[in-house]
Amino acid sequence: MSLCLICQSEIQPFISFGQMPIANGFLSPEQFAEEYFFELRLAFCQTCKMVQLMEQPDREKMFHDNYAFFSSTSTRMAQHFAEFAQAGSNDGIMLQNFQRAGIRHLGIEPSANVAQVARDKGIQTISKFFDQDLARAIVAEHGQAEAFLGANVMCHIPYLHSVAEGIKILLKPEGVLVFEDPYLGDIVERTSYDQIYDEHAFYFSLSSVANLFSRHGLELIDAIPQPVHGGSMRYVLGHEGKYQPSPALSALREKENQLGLHQPETYEKLRRNIEQSRTDLISLLRKLRDERKRVVGYAATSKSTTVTNYCGITSDLVEFISDTTPIKQGKFNPGTHIPVRSYEEFTASYPDCALLFGWNHAEEIMAKEVNFKAAGGNWIVYVPRVQVLK
Ligand code: TMP
Ligand code: ZN
Repeated sequence: MSLCLICQSEIQPFISFGQMPIANGFLSPEQFAEEYFFELRLAFCQTCKMVQLMEQPDREKMFHDNYAFFSSTSTRMAQHFAEFAQAGSNDGIMLQNFQRAGIRHLGIEPSANVAQVARDKGIQTISKFFDQDLARAIVAEHGQAEAFLGANVMCHIPYLHSVAEGIKILLKPEGVLVFEDPYLGDIVERTSYDQIYDEHAFYFSLSSVANLFSRHGLELIDAIPQPVHGGSMRYVLGHEGKYQPSPALSALREKENQLGLHQPETYEKLRRNIEQSRTDLISLLRKLRDERKRVVGYAATSKSTTVTNYCGITSDLVEFISDTTPIKQGKFNPGTHIPVRSYEEFTASYPDCALLFGWNHAEEIMAKEVNFKAAGGNWIVYVPRVQVLK
């Protein structure tokens, strides 16, 4: 029996993706034998509406000194955070805007190597996990804050009650919490199941976020859909009763009702859609292989680990994955061990098809890859459905 991490009700999984490695665990052949796997299963809590992983892999296995994810490798994301600056703080992609504007700021980023990159940019950064104790220490040293910001970090944290309590302590009476994460509504609507992987402990909706934070005296006052990461939601919260909730909030909550985000049947349907997506992708890749077409993966994203492992995609179907991040190159993708090669290997000899693992950056990537298209190359995507783009 498993219990909901938020409200302690009993929960049942609605899908298992099978044995899954760490999404960002790119590795070399001598590490294959000791690769870590866990069962990736997802559950919906009927009481507090939170969708969550059943099993939490060790945090130390995911966010370590060699953590392979740096936000600043994407220009689209840099632009997005420049707009947002009006988190795990990662490499300072968002806070650098505050630093340039001379606004007092403090970054909290547990990965030591990533925190150092932020410090090198002149951004004050603490390399620790955020919780109530750290919140008290920060208030003692720096005072309370007007705003607590997070992007793609809250959904990673299994011990959210301590974080919420810490935020309550840290915020001034008029202070606001603003955070954004991949949105459950988009995952359900678009079958974007590759958002589901070890680092994402939670898949938020307005209801589950409101339920969680109301237990800590914080109230959801606004929400703004974001196009990044294949569909995110930005949530705005204040101390209970301090601000009038926005009219947009009730419209978005109504949309969640219509989508059925509070009903278990919705997740049964999601499971069937995910299974269908797998069948379609595998059939397409096998057909291309039988036609002796070259297929290369584009961008070794964390999300691609779920797709390759769940669908059983190995290097007989996808020759290699091209990626611009130097520390991933020369390694192999987690679990199915497809080689990861430099971007130059993609441009040097274009394949017939490129499987777009970075589909959430489609616009940026396609604008950049006009030559691939002009050379007769085709893009394969699997969100919102498996297709070869014409
Ligand atoms: P993610 O933000 O969706 O996880 O994707 C990040 C990965 O995608 C990172 O390893 C860099 C890679 N990438 C490319 O290789 N080429 C590109 O044009 C983009 C935008 C990302
Ligand atoms: Zn619950």
